[in-house]
Amino acid sequence: MDMDLVIAIGLGMTLLLVAQVAMSSYRSWLVAYVSTKLGLHLGVSVLKHLLSLDTKYFQRRHIGEVATRFESVKFMERVLATGVVEVLVDTAVVVGTLAMMLLFSPLFAALSLATCGIYVGLRFVLFSGLFKLSDAQLAFASHRESSFLESLRAVQSVQLYSRQADRLGHWINATITEQNASLHIQKHAVFFRSASALVFGLEGILFLGMAATAIMQGAFSIGMLFALTAYKAQFSARVVSLIDRTFELRLLKIHASRLNEIINEPARSTAATITRPANLEASIEVKGLAYRHAPLEPFVFRNLDLHVLPGECVRIMGPSGCGKSTLARLMLGLGEPTQGDIRVGGIPLRQLGDQVVGSFMTGVLQGDQLLSGSVLENITFFDRKPDIARAMRAAEAASIHEEILRMPMGYQTFLGEMASTLSAGERQRLLLARALYPQPKILVLDEATANLDLKKESEVNGALAALGVTRIVISHRLDISQTTDRQVKFRELLRRTPAATPAHLNKACK
Ligand SMILES: Nc1ncnc2c1ncn2[C@@H]1O[C@H](COP(=O)(O)OP(=O)(O)OP(=O)(O)O)[C@@H](O)[C@H]1O
Ligand SMILES: [Mg+2]
Repeated sequence: MDMDLVIAIGLGMTLLLVAQVAMSSYRSWLVAYVSTKLGLHLGVSVLKHLLSLDTKYFQRRHIGEVATRFESVKFMERVLATGVVEVLVDTAVVVGTLAMMLLFSPLFAALSLATCGIYVGLRFVLFSGLFKLSDAQLAFASHRESSFLESLRAVQSVQLYSRQADRLGHWINATITEQNASLHIQKHAVFFRSASALVFGLEGILFLGMAATAIMQGAFSIGMLFALTAYKAQFSARVVSLIDRTFELRLLKIHASRLNEIINEPARSTAATITRPANLEASIEVKGLAYRHAPLEPFVFRNLDLHVLPGECVRIMGPSGCGKSTLARLMLGLGEPTQGDIRVGGIPLRQLGDQVVGSFMTGVLQGDQLLSGSVLENITFFDRKPDIARAMRAAEAASIHEEILRMPMGYQTFLGEMASTLSAGERQRLLLARALYPQPKILVLDEATANLDLKKESEVNGALAALGVTRIVISHRLDISQTTDRQVKFRELLRRTPAATPAHLNKACK
């Protein structure tokens, strides 16, 4: 009889073990699968949105802050995938084991439930503190990252003014602040772990005491004790995991709100609303244009008019800060005018959208960047099917072809991050070649040849004039090469209505 009992218990325990292993393997596989799928989807959609935001968004924030906000994707992905799958699987196990425990003994089930209740209470009490600390830690991590990236980007200036120690100190301060927050979080975790170990330890003692009493009174058999212990262990482990995951899901709110800051920002609307006519005229007309960076900020300019005929080259000159680059960006569809209208070939630019910008109409703007990749990849902007002959023609027009041929691997020469190994003038001509590669009909050039010597500049201007492309050239310098049809001062573009002058004009333009 006793032998039968031992065999029955052994079989029962083995079945339980097999079920546990199968369940945990399935759970791990499901978590890995869901997290891979979900992570990519979430990351892709956030980055897609981020890349479609107005440049204003990035001007107002530090790159480190944007990067750490984007990092929240990883946390969300882990918690959502792991959490959601585990919550579902654990709930099933908890319900099953609780039902079995209730069948065996409602008293023992009540003991386990009470212990879990205390565990939830502990979590609740400590949660709001943990929430605030986690939120603060993320903000501090963003400061640290920003400090690091800023120091690296400005390393030349830092060395020039021997400010290495200051920058190091700045990073150390940011790191210590973050570590302090992290230490507080760890303190919470240690306290919580100790408290819960104590609660579950006491439950174990109570359970043994109650079980021994039940066996002595003959209410319980050894087999029942074994089975109950196994169910209790499963129930406690899964309930703890379930509660931990539920609270982790609540912490997700912090990361969700950090990501929301990106997601809630409206994307630039570049989609075309009409089909581009095949014979679109390469003219550009700006009427009553006004722009300000934010509703409460002063206007950069108001009532700006400009009409450039097909094939014409207009040079716009003006003092620093009067709004020339702002105008160039608006003409290239980067940013929404506050008032007024920009028409290409007589059709509003907004309606033509991405059908013209980047192909029919390109440009070189101040602060434009090259990317890591070969010279060819940069000229063709990583075109999947690059037209090498066209890229060479663009490089020739930009007066950079000869220099490229002299590079170690010609058009295949690799350029590091932001092509920092090139001279400023070489970078500008490469940017110009990139703008010419799509064979545009309108070119907007904002100080695009400012780093060239006069001879090179007039060589480039001559080559561009020969292409017959409509050009809006923004420059501080007068054109001495005589390749410009019209030279205008920026302030001459502003309509002199009583409302427009002098109060509403940008100070720099007066
Ligand atoms: N993100 C921004 N937020 C607020 N003001 C800005 C922002 N970007 C530029 N400005 C301001 O807008 C004005 C016009 O800037 P813009 O870059 O168009 O001048 P610019 O004429 O091109 O000058 P420069 O000849 O020096 O290149 C400046 O006063 C500048 O400080
Ligand atoms: Mg400028």
